[in-house]
Amino acid sequence: MILKLGGSVITQKEKPLTANLKAIERLSREISEAKVSHLILIHGGGSFGHPLAKQYALKEGYKEKSQLVGFSKTRQAMETLNKLVVDALIRQNVAAVGLQPSAFVVTSSGRISSIEQQPLGKLLEIGLVPVLYGDAVFDFDLGFTILSGDQLAAHLAMQLGASRIILGIDVDGLYTSDPKSDPSAKLIRHVTLQELRNMQHEIEEAKVTDVTRGMLGKILELMPAVEKGIPALIVNAAKPNSIYRALKGEEVTGTTIVKG
Ligand code: IPE
Repeated sequence: MILKLGGSVITQKEKPLTANLKAIERLSREISEAKVSHLILIHGGGSFGHPLAKQYALKEGYKEKSQLVGFSKTRQAMETLNKLVVDALIRQNVAAVGLQPSAFVVTSSGRISSIEQQPLGKLLEIGLVPVLYGDAVFDFDLGFTILSGDQLAAHLAMQLGASRIILGIDVDGLYTSDPKSDPSAKLIRHVTLQELRNMQHEIEEAKVTDVTRGMLGKILELMPAVEKGIPALIVNAAKPNSIYRALKGEEVTGTTIVKG
């Protein structure tokens, strides 16, 4: 099973480089209590990753020397956040091990093109819980870029044959419109790929602000994995017990995306 925790849940969005330690601790407890075997945990960047990535235009690739220190700062910020997550998991007795995606994944024009899978595979086989993250990575065409945790989640799910992907974000799931600005927005509990494609242009109208954030980006990233028959579940990780229930396969408010 692959669990991606959105940066908006584990960090304080409006405050650069500030973690939401309470949420990290609670989610670590939920993960510990769910006792899933063969779990890959991936977390986003939130206020540790996005502001720096944007400031130094890292997603667009290497253009000038002044970006280099921005690459270093982003990598370092993600290491710091990863350490906070792994520390919390270990406190809850989860055998978590942080893995740095930029050391084993290379992209081509922003898409994963090469991945050294053996350390990750070995870790899982032994029963450890790898903790990966969206990262500033090296790119064959761009020099470097930003790899989102969502792309990483879908890619690994396909490569390793995951049973499902759980995406924990800060809203209940996919809505008919933006629930933060439209009170009449309705939660979509169940959606097929075909229905999603039909809805796609409507989702596109919702403005995507962060470098990789936004519901559209997330769902588009998950679609190839769902196409391969791996269902994806989007739940609100900011609500206590949602992640626990999702990991246990219990009934939980959210959006399930299935092939059809
Ligand atoms: C972004 O990862 C990582 C960086 C900006 C370095 P994600 O795109 O997965 O992060 P969130 O979940 O949207 O914060």
